[in-house]
Amino acid sequence: MQDKPITILLVEDEPVIALDIRRRLQQLGYSTLVTVTSGEEAVQRAESIAPDIILMDIILSGSLDGIDAAALLRKQISAPVIYLTAHADEATLRRAMITEPFGYILKPFEDRELHTCIEMALYKHRMESDIRNKERWFATTLRSIGDAVITLDGSGFVTIINAAAARIFEITEERATGRLFSDQFRVRDDSTGQIITTRTIQASNGQYTQPSPATVETRSGRIVPVDISVSGTIDPLDQTTGSVIVLRDATDRKRSEEVLRTSLGQLRRTFEQTVLALAVTAEKRDPYTAGHQTRVAKLACAIADLLGLHSESIEAVRVAGTLHDIGKIYIPAEILAKPGKLTGLEMDLMRTHTTVGRDILSQISFPWPVADIVHQHHERLDGSGYPNGLSAKDILQEAKILAVADVVEAMSSHRPYRPSLGLPPALDELRSGIGTAYDKDAAEACIALFDVGFTFPKD
Ligand SMILES: [Fe+2]
Ligand SMILES: [Fe+2]
Repeated sequence: MQDKPITILLVEDEPVIALDIRRRLQQLGYSTLVTVTSGEEAVQRAESIAPDIILMDIILSGSLDGIDAAALLRKQISAPVIYLTAHADEATLRRAMITEPFGYILKPFEDRELHTCIEMALYKHRMESDIRNKERWFATTLRSIGDAVITLDGSGFVTIINAAAARIFEITEERATGRLFSDQFRVRDDSTGQIITTRTIQASNGQYTQPSPATVETRSGRIVPVDISVSGTIDPLDQTTGSVIVLRDATDRKRSEEVLRTSLGQLRRTFEQTVLALAVTAEKRDPYTAGHQTRVAKLACAIADLLGLHSESIEAVRVAGTLHDIGKIYIPAEILAKPGKLTGLEMDLMRTHTTVGRDILSQISFPWPVADIVHQHHERLDGSGYPNGLSAKDILQEAKILAVADVVEAMSSHRPYRPSLGLPPALDELRSGIGTAYDKDAAEACIALFDVGFTFPKD
């Protein structure tokens, strides 16, 4: 029995029987009883009595019999009805069934039978109310969430479509519910290019659990990018009973990504143009080496690529190569363009271009160690280079590659103090310095590149 005393409405027109049932109910512990003698009175007073359960005689005096009264009461209040009657003919039973009673007791009956029937009816009614409330809560939640949700039964028929889903597909809830998913929705899986059908959903067995990009084609032919996830619904025996499809409109995300891509592209172009402008600034003062940095960058990148360096390192080599002699901006033009051999002092001054380059480039927050690579591009493995006489282990790999490309380009092109030496002597210089001055891998990759026809870009 419940903690709160339950209220029983007894509808019985025979005073003696009513009195007997009332007495028996009281003995069973049901103390709150209201007895009425007709169907009309039951209907009139039901809302004010608010019974937890109704015991209803079927044959009643008045214009309403018990079954008619129960049918009307169902529309007014939510209370389980148990019929108490001496009539068990088929026709009466069938009429009674339509009113979905929670019990049907034939007179005469035992106290135990009445007690069990009342308790079962109360329990079943409570459970059904709980389930109905949960279903209402679930349906309200589904309808009000921002994500588009479509639920399918085991055969792929739509059981629920919420407002967000109806909006995306341009369909009404009434039109979609009860129809096959494949018949009315066109959703293409972007990763496979295939239309998602009832069959693919069923075959996936709820495996599309991670949101994945897809494209919806609406009834008007509009294309809507979405992220889709599908989960299987499982019964207590672990059998799949249906599917839940969740779609999120990805239009805004796609638009933001596009804007971001465009901005990144513009930023990247600006960055490349800035790097080139810086390179040209240095070369304007030194026409003999004009284009030298671009050519070195191209060869250095090809070497880095052949050595299998990560794309980030190749990018570092490209930017450092394009700017590696920017420090020459500090060297007097007469020294840069001097046709003869440089004096010791002039050579010392010329050598400062690595440190000046480092100082200029360290002002910029590159995502790579561009300033350090530039600073080290005249270092040699055996410590004979400048400005710091670093040895192999302290020189960045990108700087070792740059050193190789720089020497080959410089020797094979014209200089104010000498004509071009040509490519073969440049490569001989590399070969003779492998392992002592130049990194073995970088030098061999450089030689291999020229073997297969590498050429410098024209100015
Ligand atoms: Fe240099
Ligand atoms: Fe150089």
